[in-house]
Amino acid sequence: MEVEVREISFSDIDEVAEIEKICFSIPWSKELIAQELLNKMAYYQCAIIDGKLVGYMGMWKICDEGHITNVAVLPEYRKKGIASMLISKMIEVCKCSEIYNVTLEARESNLEAIHLYEKFGFESAGKRPNYYQKPTESAVIMWKKIEQ
Ligand SMILES: CC(C)(COP(=O)(O)OP(=O)(O)OC[C@H]1O[C@@H](n2cnc3c(N)ncnc32)[C@H](O)[C@@H]1OP(=O)(O)O)[C@@H](O)C(=O)NCCC(=O)NCCS
Repeated sequence: MEVEVREISFSDIDEVAEIEKICFSIPWSKELIAQELLNKMAYYQCAIIDGKLVGYMGMWKICDEGHITNVAVLPEYRKKGIASMLISKMIEVCKCSEIYNVTLEARESNLEAIHLYEKFGFESAGKRPNYYQKPTESAVIMWKKIEQ
């Protein structure tokens, strides 16, 4: 299985929106995704298998911090290391962009995601009560220091 990781472009918006609908209870609209691609502080990348966009992730650069916005992989392509490839690439991007710490939030019950981030050295640093809607749930806040 050959996986290409590359930056997202405007021609990918339909596929990214489809992944959003499948993976999240409050999916980002195509308009919001387009806005994100225009955001100069944002970096979005995707994983492609046989020409199909199967996963993507994004990050905002805020001063010397990276804030991960979304990570998602289509259900039939999970547990194959695709999110890991995306995160590894993002860590490389951080190293080239003077980003020293990266943070994200995950639903407390989302053990798949929490395990994924822990595998990359993210550590829990507290909670945001009732941060999520549909269903209402607290977020675990995680941080990782980026070794330059
Ligand atoms: C979380 C998600 C992105 C993981 O993607 P993935 O491509 O399956 O992840 P990988 O195959 O790279 O797995 C990496 C690690 O994640 C953890 N993980 C992934 N799926 C898991 C599962 N079902 N149960 C437990 N741990 C899991 C494991 O630690 C795994 O490492 P291992 O294979 O060495 O055990 C994917 O499940 C997803 O898209 N979920 C829906 C959207 C979402 O919740 N995004 C996160 C928002 S914070």
